[in-house]
Amino acid sequence: MTLDPIATFEDIARWTGPFRDAQRAAAQDALESGKVLFFPRLSFVIGNSEATLLTDQLSNGRAKNISRDPDGRVQGERGSAEESVRLNMMLGRFAEHARALVMHLFPGYAARVEQARTSYRPVEIAGRRYSPRDDDKRLHLDAFPSRPQRGRRILRVFSNIHPMGGKRVWHVGEPFEDVARRYASKARKPLPLEPWLFETLGITRGRRSEYDYLMLGLHDGAKLDTAYQKDSPQVEFAFPAGTTWMCFTDQAMHAALSGQFALEQTFHLPVEALAHPERSPLKVLERMMGRTLV
Ligand SMILES: [Fe+2]
Repeated sequence: MTLDPIATFEDIARWTGPFRDAQRAAAQDALESGKVLFFPRLSFVIGNSEATLLTDQLSNGRAKNISRDPDGRVQGERGSAEESVRLNMMLGRFAEHARALVMHLFPGYAARVEQARTSYRPVEIAGRRYSPRDDDKRLHLDAFPSRPQRGRRILRVFSNIHPMGGKRVWHVGEPFEDVARRYASKARKPLPLEPWLFETLGITRGRRSEYDYLMLGLHDGAKLDTAYQKDSPQVEFAFPAGTTWMCFTDQAMHAALSGQFALEQTFHLPVEALAHPERSPLKVLERMMGRTLV
């Protein structure tokens, strides 16, 4: 089987649409199939006053990303007071653009979609060293140890804003079902009372379900499997500067190999809001395990 994990939408060039019914249907079908939607003509334009924000010196060096909560609180930066204001405004502007795109392209999600963090990734990926589990240069699905999703989807919109034409290079891997078949049975099971204890101690925000343990198992299983990283089905794709892409990062196997200066907006969505809930990681895993997981 040849992998075809990228769906390109040449004719989408405006964040607010209007989009034709056929465009919307094709985009939603591809998205819910676990593909990466690529918009080669959709740019997030950096304003003149924002150009000086394109430096890796803004990052405080501890966090790899600068993030902005929906309430406007920014973390991980060390700019001057004046730079902080402009940075907050740029992130807020990207958050609005990404939200408009999701709302106009997927009107069926509008009532249930929840806007989460916006992030700015100003540091070059290539050459950064992490432990294998923390290394997003390795193929993985997004699963957050401290933030249980309990089946809730993770939808992310990315724009490459590199001012000198630098590309952002990803690997995109095999379908979710194949990843699940490989690693779900090896996922660590919680100790008795562990989910309750983690929640009570504030180690997790909310309680981990069996679904969350399985997703962490898939994340770690793939990242720690060096042979899988090398030999599993995957394609390389370079997102040019001035382009935008999105995917369900809890479903699409992805790795970010190199690149600098990207913006990202996260959304969450309940499984019931999907046109095809049966394709979601939760439903796939429940079919595989033969029981409910949340
Ligand atoms: Fe990721």
